[in-house]
Amino acid sequence: MIGDRAARTIRYVVLPPYKYKVVEPIRLPDAADRRNAIIAAGFNTFLLRADDVYIDLLTDSGTSAVSQEQRAAMELGDESYAGSRSFYRLEEAMRDVYGWRHLIPTHQGRGAEHLLSRVLVQPGQLVLSNLYFTTSRVHAELAGGVWTDVSIKEAADPLSQHPFKGNIDLAKLRELIVREGPERIAFVRQEACLNMAGGQPFSLENLRAVRALTREFDIPFYLDATRSSENAIFIKEREPGHAERSMAEILREIASLADGAVFSSKKDHFVPIGGFLATNDDDVARKARELVVVYEGFPHYGGLAGHDMEALAQGIREAADERVVSHYVGQVRYLAERLQEAGVPIVVPVGAHAVFLDAKRFLPKVPQEQFPAQMLAAAIYVAGGVRSMERGIVSGQHGDEPYHGLELVRLTIPRRAYGREHLDYVAETIRRVFAARDEIPGLELVYEPPTLRFFQARFEPLEPLPLLDGESVKRESPLRARFGAGPRASRRPARSR
Ligand code: F0G
Repeated sequence: MIGDRAARTIRYVVLPPYKYKVVEPIRLPDAADRRNAIIAAGFNTFLLRADDVYIDLLTDSGTSAVSQEQRAAMELGDESYAGSRSFYRLEEAMRDVYGWRHLIPTHQGRGAEHLLSRVLVQPGQLVLSNLYFTTSRVHAELAGGVWTDVSIKEAADPLSQHPFKGNIDLAKLRELIVREGPERIAFVRQEACLNMAGGQPFSLENLRAVRALTREFDIPFYLDATRSSENAIFIKEREPGHAERSMAEILREIASLADGAVFSSKKDHFVPIGGFLATNDDDVARKARELVVVYEGFPHYGGLAGHDMEALAQGIREAADERVVSHYVGQVRYLAERLQEAGVPIVVPVGAHAVFLDAKRFLPKVPQEQFPAQMLAAAIYVAGGVRSMERGIVSGQHGDEPYHGLELVRLTIPRRAYGREHLDYVAETIRRVFAARDEIPGLELVYEPPTLRFFQARFEPLEPLPLLDGESVKRESPLRARFGAGPRASRRPARSR
């Protein structure tokens, strides 16, 4: 058995607490096929076919391996429309691990975000949050809310070593509440392992202070607890006074400090689909149940099958298993260290679920308006069939506001799916791209959907992309001419939204 001590003492090699029993074949397409695939995908990794991908680090969402216990539990799924046994088992697992009173299941995280925003937000009210998540912000805005960032300034600094960049700026929070008046604040949201900042945790001290402040002004306080297990591990590792506590105990304390939470269970809970809203507030629960029947399904399944709820109930219990979560965090750290050894610029400290490349430093010659992170993600795919995701101006620019924020590429590690050989291959692929970085051009936007544009936007390169399939860039290869649109005679300026 892997002891907790091993997890703490071996720096980044945490032994896996599982072995493989079922495997899924994967295939590395050849270089010419990869180049054709990225052109067909409009240089957007979301638009690649999964079969054209070798290592898929697009997201940790719904991509984890389920356990044998989850599969076994699925056989017990009760598909009753109402009063399903599986719902009650799910509710019990959530109460055991987190302790909130009510659970309203949804098809995934954004379903819960929709319900919460519809229940809590009145038009014109503010939602105060550490940075933002794309779907969370959209749902708050669709309900008429105004998203307002109260993150600490270090969250936007990829070089800051602050151990808790997921913290909320308490002075800013108080100042806003006092200035606007508490009745203008719909709710305060704090996200665990803040995705858009690089998977950065909050401290328990900060969470307690936010709880106190929201109590003082009687403002609802909800977590985005999607990645709260990893957050609990970071508290144990980094925050004085918690090293000897169990991760499960810390997780329970995190939950006890908020009125409730939204979860995308596709991450920490190891399920391909599912999410929920949890709350201690009877009134919020009643209103959410009124809405869930309209948008998701009866409150005893909320868009999920009975077998989904069984897998989720078991996954919730596994998400409180310190060995499982420590191993996962260790894998992310392992990949980060391989990249740091090669001088690749990444966001530090290394966060929960992904290594984030800092595209501004990786491609310093490509200005942000030419989408360096978007291009870098495309280049990494071309170099080795590794799929990653842009988290920069394409994801972050909002409306007509100028965007000068983080410009990152996320290499997200699915849970329990890949081993060290895969991660070594990823590091090697990125090393090759880094060696060819001076050759990598910018992109222009040629199609932009009106909302959540990163999912389906299309791009063309401003210059041909190098081949990226060897240590040195083969400048005279006949394939080079075929790759990319070539220098363009007329360049449309990128539209801003
Ligand atoms: N909140 C956070 C912090 C998330 O990371 C996500 C999804 C959601 C809410 C929405 O949940 O996808 O189940 O509807 N994040 C995925 C990602 C998509 O790749 O980071 P969902």
